[in-house]
Amino acid sequence: MSVLEGERRRQYLEALGVEVWVRRDLPEPQAVPPLAAVPVVGPQVAMPPVPRPAPRPEAWDALAAEVAACERCPLHEGRLNTVFGVGNREADWLVIGEAPGAEEDKRGEPFVGRAGQLLNSMLGALGLKRETVYIANILKCRPPGNRDPRPEEVVACSSYLARQIELIGPKIVLAVGRIAAQNLLEVTTPIGKLRGQVHTLGPQRIPLVVTYHPAYLLRTPSEKRKAWQDLLLARRVLEGRS
Ligand code: URA
Repeated sequence: MSVLEGERRRQYLEALGVEVWVRRDLPEPQAVPPLAAVPVVGPQVAMPPVPRPAPRPEAWDALAAEVAACERCPLHEGRLNTVFGVGNREADWLVIGEAPGAEEDKRGEPFVGRAGQLLNSMLGALGLKRETVYIANILKCRPPGNRDPRPEEVVACSSYLARQIELIGPKIVLAVGRIAAQNLLEVTTPIGKLRGQVHTLGPQRIPLVVTYHPAYLLRTPSEKRKAWQDLLLARRVLEGRS
C-alpha cells in the first residue's frame, strides 16, 4: 500500500469511527481490529466454492433494457430514472441496499447521496474501491417521499435482483439496512438480531452478512463500530476464515 493509499484508508476508517493508530516503526496506519469482539452466532456455513458464471453481456443488456422500460408497479409513474445497479459484473462483493433516494433517482445510480459517500468509505476501509464491487437495491425505482418499499413493489421487482445475483455469482452479499436484510432473508427479525452472523441466500447458499444502513449510521454514529465489525466478518467469510 502506498503512503497515499494508506492515508486514504486512514480517512475512511476515521469516517467509520474506527480508532486508528500508527506504529512508529511502520509507515502504514493500522486499524485496531476488533475481531475478537465479533461473535459469529449463526450457523457456521460450509461453503463449497460457487463457480463463477461465464460473463453474459447480452443477458445484462437485455435485463437492463427490461428494467429501464419496467411498468410492473406504480412506482414507474413518479420516477426520473430507474436505478439498475452499478459496478463490477464479476464482483466477489455484492452490496444490496433498499431503494433509490432523490439523488439516485436523479442520477440513475445507487448510493450517490450522503449515504453513498459513507458506503464508499465503509468499502474503502476494507481496501475496496466502489467500482470493484457491485451495488444494487431491492427496488429499482424511488418510493415517493423515501417511504419504505411496499410488499407488492418488492415482489414486482424481485426477479430483476435475482437475475443480477445469478449473473454476478458473488462470493459474499452485504445486505445494508433492515429493509434489504428482511426482504432478502424473508424474515421480520429486527436488524440488531440479524447482524453479527452469517446467513445464506437462495439455492446457491451465497453467504450473506447484514449491516446497518449508512443513512442510519449518519444519524447514529455510535453504531459505526458495529458496522465495522460486520464488514470484517464479511471479509473473513469471503476469505474462508469464518
Ligand atoms: N439508500 C439505499 O438503500 N439505496 C440507495 O441507492 C440510496 C440510498
